[in-house]
Order: sequence, then structure tokens, then C-alpha cells
Amino acid sequence: MYAAFRSIGSYIPQNILTNQDLEKMVDTSDEWIVKRTGIKERRIANADEATSDLGYKAALQAIERSEIDITEIDMIVCATLSPDYLTMPSTAAMISKKLGIKNVMAFDISAACTGFVYLMSLAKAFVESGAKKNVLIIGAEKISSIIDYTDRSTCILFGDGAGAAVISATEDKNEAIIDVLASADGNFGELLITPGCGSVNPIREDNVNDKLQYMKMAGNEVFKVAVKTLTKDVIEILKKNKIDASEVDMFIPHQANFRIVEAVRAKLNFPVEKCAMTVAKYGNTSSASIPMAMNDLYEEGKIKNGDLMLLDAFGGGFTWGSALVRFAGKNFSS
Ligand code: COA
Repeated sequence: MYAAFRSIGSYIPQNILTNQDLEKMVDTSDEWIVKRTGIKERRIANADEATSDLGYKAALQAIERSEIDITEIDMIVCATLSPDYLTMPSTAAMISKKLGIKNVMAFDISAACTGFVYLMSLAKAFVESGAKKNVLIIGAEKISSIIDYTDRSTCILFGDGAGAAVISATEDKNEAIIDVLASADGNFGELLITPGCGSVNPIREDNVNDKLQYMKMAGNEVFKVAVKTLTKDVIEILKKNKIDASEVDMFIPHQANFRIVEAVRAKLNFPVEKCAMTVAKYGNTSSASIPMAMNDLYEEGKIKNGDLMLLDAFGGGFTWGSALVRFAGKNFSS
């Protein structure tokens, strides 16, 4: 049994936070942000929208496009660093409730911006083992809920959104997800961290006053490791599977920063038109960034049935991973 990537869907919140808006909030400028990151605007969910609301809408679209009946979904996993609730219930459980899916395993994973690649690895393993047939995977983020909008080193980078996919069992090897590599190194944990509200710094007045509930980042150090790791990942997965970069139809790296994506693309010699680049309009949406970018390409007709996609991600932990995936869904029609 193989695992096939059957469908993609996404949800993009309506509210737009532009660089000009941020100029009024912190000491920054549109020019600085565009030059250092390529980001022009990002989406921000409504106050009454939870991460599971974003994930639910992306999931619904992915299920509809999969041509699989919703009752056949037998596992739901959500990757998020901005869950509905800190400990429980899981965001995946909340999404299952909104979808009306009962009696299936639903849980979250924590792998920051590499979340979607980790989900691919999990779904592939569950399907190939025969344990599950139709796994719904979701990367959903309301990162605005863990951002300090007085901290210019982080608030300019991140945005909200969600993406989802259905991974299904198939006997056709031509449809199969080819490979997923994923790893982590906790020694880098403190470079990209939300220090508060867990067991180390529990929710207490002093910790909240110190703003430990918000994301902190050593941007420059993260940048260097990100470029190196993302490049190494791609070389490794292509070599392992004896696939030449020229055979890849679409390279979809995590959308953290234009300079990171561009450095990796150039080092690997992928043509610009074969590289996803959505960071200008969405910013970094963490676990949602790869499926949101993939969905845009799908709706533009740039990802079609049989196309070979190469995913590449890096994030807090540090975590990293890459995936070689054939798109096994139907072509987009509006
Ligand atoms: N606006 C204006 N100036 C800013 C600023 C902002 N939003 N943020 C930082 N600065 C200032 C700094 O204070 C520093 O000033 P100084 O030289 O007077 O000390 C200067 O700009 C340079 O800061 P630095 O952090 O060295 O800039 P950089 O070129 O590394 O760019 C990032 C900063 C965050 C854009 C960049 O490091 C980055 O993208 N890192 C990766 C982040 C990331 O992708 N994280 C998620 C990974 S999944």
C-alpha cells in the first residue's frame, strides 16, 4: 500500500496588515521590511476566529477536492504553534468537531514551521502500514495571538492562515509520496522560542508582565542555520532517491523570508518559475506556509496531476525536513 497526496486546500483570513500599518505601531519602515524580508503584507485573523476555525475552512476545501466522502476520513492531525488551547483539547479535536467527524483519532503535533513536512511523514507511515486509509492533515496558525506587536524583531515577519491536505491509500506506485525526511536538534531551542505559559515558565503574573507568552527570536542566527539546513535537506533527499533537480516540477520551500528562499533556490539552481514565493503577501505563516503556497499554485494551474513537488521546511526546535511528493489529485477547476 502507498500513500497518495489527494488534494490541497487553504484558508486566507481577510484582514490585511501592511508594512505601512506596522510603521504606525513600531519603529520600522516599509523599506527596511521589504529589503530584509521581502514581506509587504500579512493576513490577520479576526478576534473571534480561532486557529481551528482557520484549519476547519482549509480542511473542508481539501476534503471537497479529494473526492473522498467526509465519512471516510479516519485520522486528523494538526500542526500548529498557536493552538486553540495551551494543553487541551487539541486543535485537531476542535476541527473534527467543526467538520462533524466523530470517532477518529485527532491530535496535534508541535514542530513549528516544519509542521507540515512532519505531518506528511506521519500520514505516509500510517497509510503505508495499513493502519489508516484517509488522513486529513492541517497546518493552521493564528500566530498573531502569540506575537508582541511592540517587538519589531518579530511582529513584521508573521501572519495567520491555514492549509490542509488529504493523504489516501493507493495501490498505484506512480501516485505515491516518494519520500519524507525530517529531523530535529533541541540544542538550538532557545533561538526561536515562546518561553512562557508552559511548565518552565507557568502562567503567572510576573511571567506575563515579562511578556514571556510571546515569541522571541534571535533572527540573525536563525537566518544562517535556515539557509544552510534548507539547502542540505534538498541535496540529501534528491540524492537518496536518485532524482535530479531538473525533474522537480515545483519547489515549495517554507516561506520565512524572501532572502532565505532566494538563497536556497539560487544555490540549488531551481528556475524562478519553479519556486513558490508567497512570502510578500502572507509573511511567515509557520506550519501553514507550505500548504498555503501549494494551494495558490494549484489554483493558478501550476500544480497538476502527476507533478513532482519538492517541499522543504525549517523551524523552531530546530526542526527541519524535506519531502518528494507527486500530486495525485484532480486538476483545478474553478
Ligand atoms: N525595522 C527596522 N529595524 C530593525 C527591525 C525592524 N523591524 N528589526 C531589527 N532592526 C534593526 C536591528 O535593531 C539592528 O539595528 P542595529 O544595527 O542598530 O543594532 C538592525 O536592524 C539589523 O538587525 P539584524 O537582526 O542583524 O537584521 P537582519 O539583517 O538579520 O534581519 C531578520 C533581521 C529578522 C529579518 C532576519 O534575521 C531574518 O529574517 N531571520 C530569520 C527569521 C526567520 O525566518 N525566522 C523563522 C524561521 S522559521
